[in-house]
Order: sequence, then C-alpha cells, then structure tokens
Amino acid sequence: MSISHIAQTISESATLKLNQTAAAMQAKGEPLIHLGGGEPKSKAPLEALVAVANLLESAEVRYTPAGGILPLKQAIVRYTEEFYGHTVTPANVIASGGAKQSIMVALQAILNPQDELIFTVPYWVSYPEMAKLCAAVPVPVVPKDGSFYPSIRDLESKMGPRTRAVMLNSPNNPSGAMYSEQFIAETVELCEKRDVYLIMDDIYHRLIFDGRQPVSSYKYAKKTGDDSKLIVVNGVSKQYAMTGFRIGWAVANKALIKVMTNIQGHQTSGPSVVMQQAALAALNGPQASVAALRTTLENNRNVMMERLQSFAGVRVTKPDGTFYCFADFSAFDKSSARLADLLLNKVLVAVMPGIEFGMDGYLRLSYCGTIKDITEGIERINWALDPSAPKELYLGDRKLVRDWL
Ligand SMILES: Cc1ncc(COP(=O)(O)O)c(C=O)c1O
Repeated sequence: MSISHIAQTISESATLKLNQTAAAMQAKGEPLIHLGGGEPKSKAPLEALVAVANLLESAEVRYTPAGGILPLKQAIVRYTEEFYGHTVTPANVIASGGAKQSIMVALQAILNPQDELIFTVPYWVSYPEMAKLCAAVPVPVVPKDGSFYPSIRDLESKMGPRTRAVMLNSPNNPSGAMYSEQFIAETVELCEKRDVYLIMDDIYHRLIFDGRQPVSSYKYAKKTGDDSKLIVVNGVSKQYAMTGFRIGWAVANKALIKVMTNIQGHQTSGPSVVMQQAALAALNGPQASVAALRTTLENNRNVMMERLQSFAGVRVTKPDGTFYCFADFSAFDKSSARLADLLLNKVLVAVMPGIEFGMDGYLRLSYCGTIKDITEGIERINWALDPSAPKELYLGDRKLVRDWL
C-alpha cells in the first residue's frame, strides 16, 4: 500500500485500542475489569442532556461558525474568568471536537516541519503522534530525579534553536502529578524569555485532590495581548463526564485563534452544534456534578493507593489529581506491554502499559470505575503476580489456574 511518509510514522492510539478490546471482551460476556479507561463513569449533567433533546426536537441542526457558536465562546470566557482569574473575549476562544482537536489545530498553526515540540515524561500518548502529524519532532523531557515532577532545569536542558513549543499537562495523564505553582511560573517565564509557545493542556483542571487549587498559568504571564504565546486548552470531557460529546476548547491570542479556526474550518467545519449546545448547558448549569465527581475520584484514589501500597514489589506515587495512578511494576516484568498483555489475557484485567507514555516497567491503572472494580482488579493482578498465592482463582464459576509463574 502506498501511503504518505507522515502516515507511515503514525501509530494507532494505544488507549483507544485498549478500549475497543475491552468493549469487545465485555460484549462477549467475559468478566473483564477495565482499569485502563480514561473516562468517568458518572452521568453527563442533566442540563446537557436536556439541551440536546431540545435542539433535536427543533430539528434545526445546522452548520455553525467553524470556531464555535458565540454563546459557547461566551461561556468559555466566563469559565476562564472564574477559574483562571483571567479576562478574555470570544475572539480569544476556539471550540473544537474535543481538547484533542484544539491541541491538534494549535500545533498545526504553530509548528513547521523539523520544529521541536517539548513535553514532559510520562506524557499523554497522543503528543508524539500529534507532533509527527505536523512533520515536527517530539522531544520528551525526563525528570532527572526519577520523579514525575520535572524541574525547570530538566526542561531548559532540552531547549534549543529548533524548540518551537512546550506542552505541559498538569494534572498529568498518566501520573496524576500536579506540577507545583513554582514550576508553572518558571515555565511561563522561560517560554516568554525564549519566545516559544507554551501549551497548557488543562483537561483535568479541577479534578485535583487533598484541597489543592488549580494553578493559573496566566498569573505569571507578562505578555497578555496579541504577542502572548500562551495557549490554554480545556474541555468538558473529563470534568463534566462528557467524553463522548467531543467538545474542548483553546484560549489564545486573537490572531492565532483566527488561524486555528481557518484550519479547523477546512478539517471539520467546526464541532457539532448539538454537542456545542450540550457543552454550553454544562458550563452554564449548576457545577455540583464537578464537585461530586472530584469527591468520588478522590475516594477512589485513596482506595487504590491503600491496595497498591500493600502490594509487595509495586512502587507508587500518590496522584494529586486526574483518575490515573502510574505504578512501577518493573520488579515483576521490565516490559510493560508484555505484563499488560498477561494481565488482560490471564486474569481479564485491562491496564495501560507504561511504554505508551514513555516509561517502560510502569502500568497506568485508572480509578474512574467502581470501588469494586478497583479492589477486585488489584486482587486479580496480585494473584497473577504472587507465586505464593494459591494456584487457583475463581472468577464466578470460571476456574483460573496460574501456570505462568
Ligand atoms: C492529557 C489529555 N489531553 C487531552 C485529552 C483529550 O480530551 P478530549 O476528550 O476533550 O479530546 C485527553 C484525553 O484522554 C488527555 O488525557
């Protein structure tokens, strides 16, 4: 088959693939526990569902402006004021088909072939592929101290003449680490000094625990007008449990938003009007669902921590936010892909291999499901990896015999 050079470099999304495999196994009636997922299980806010129903009933389902409808942009302006303490106008906003598309059009708007995009390790699976889609070069930054918290020196050491943009995701998928206010402040300052773009992927923005408050990168930006190179990305997928609605956004300087909108206009003509109305209703509605989700996730995190901390051989760092824990399983297998495969096929627990996030030996375990999923999933993993545990395990009436240790 003849395909483009760029297409040849792009791999399948490992997270989406695992979701498909898990769904297919569950559809066959397999007692699978999905600890690999990236979406909350709570329902979307009622206002969002009502907004969809109302629009469908009107049958007026049409094209919208490519960058999104004005009321949605206004709601995003309000969100930015309320949660970032920063004033923007609708001309600073683009609504897209998920935060993923906002990031992609931002990269297409700013990266030239061979430019370098810097991001921290562990990283979200899509960043390297998105850079490659622009014929740019992904540059991962590994924290020198072996933690999930990079220092400004780590970041600076990777910057060179080809650096065009830095991407930060805090709280972070997959580690759950929320970067310190000092690190964010230093990064904003460094990017302004070097005149490179800074993309803040804030998709897990308010899903943070232990009384933490979100850090606003705007607080440290000296350039705030048309020469600002700060791009802040967010969306309704995670905080409002609206992953399938596919609405995210970016806030940036007006000229850049115009360019991003031109690109998006040719890609998709803009996000679906139905889903924009749903996102608008969620943003303007009562915010109790976000707080409830945060509380549920914090509780789930605590349960997962408790289980993993008493799992001999596993090393964990307590996540500050998100719904992921990135645990070091290298004592059992240095190859995370092989280990994830074993757990899926032998004990029917789906987890994401760390190699997909740039760190082999680790597994990403999600705690966005039920407490039962978390406890039973970790019990099964423990049984699979503990040679001193009884040889047999029953999943309902199915008998598993451990013959791989
Ligand atoms: C770090 C990160 N950024 C962006 C996204 C994409 O979000 P959306 O569903 O709004 O496209 C995800 C989704 O998993 C994510 O984990």
